[in-house]
Amino acid sequence: MAHGPVIVIETPRLRFRPLTVEDADELQALYSDPEVMRFFEGLRSREQVLMEIEEAKRSYQRLGFYLWAAIHKPDRRFIGRCGLLPQSIEGRRELEVAYMLARPYWGRGLGTEAARAIKAHAFTRLHCARLISLIAPGNEASVRVAEKNGMRYVKEVTLNGYVDRMYVVEATGGLTDLLP
Ligand SMILES: CC(C)(COP(=O)(O)OP(=O)(O)OC[C@H]1O[C@@H](n2cnc3c(N)ncnc32)[C@H](O)[C@@H]1OP(=O)(O)O)[C@@H](O)C(=O)NCCC(=O)NCCS
Repeated sequence: MAHGPVIVIETPRLRFRPLTVEDADELQALYSDPEVMRFFEGLRSREQVLMEIEEAKRSYQRLGFYLWAAIHKPDRRFIGRCGLLPQSIEGRRELEVAYMLARPYWGRGLGTEAARAIKAHAFTRLHCARLISLIAPGNEASVRVAEKNGMRYVKEVTLNGYVDRMYVVEATGGLTDLLP
């Protein structure tokens, strides 16, 4: 009997599942849109995309999370990659809520839906104590998503030579804060 992929998180409009090598074309298309990549360094080569998918597979095994494929339920399309990225910030281990969606799907509340569901997953299923988002100066859409995800601005940090603004949320709120 055929089995579908493991669904890690489900929201009203989105499904998150592990990335596979079959996502390479879609992922590369996402990384080839200069608007999507406006606040990221450089566009990604095929090799980099495949390396990222390999890294994701290692992390699923080792940690149980990483970036996942975001599938838009109404049309079943791959529309982005979102998830949890381990980061080391000033010597402290942090977990970042990361989100990136294809441009045609912007402005419909999907970024917020994704970020909230990932936060709820991290707090309730993975028992994380604190989450961050690292946002390039000027990325207002991402700032709004972070704010709507209950995050507050803490400080500027330098990561790989780039200045980012760090937003934080701690798992101290009531259960209602965690509802997607
Ligand atoms: C960030 C991103 C995921 C947001 O996705 P989205 O689905 O459009 O976000 P939402 O529809 O949930 O909108 C969230 C809020 O941001 C606001 N917003 C969206 N685009 C905006 C923009 N360009 N400038 C200012 N505010 C913006 C929306 O109005 C909404 O706020 P509101 O509810 O108060 O009106 C999407 O823009 C994206 O993938 N960008 C490229 C990758 C990226 O930069 N990722 C973040 C890296 S830190």
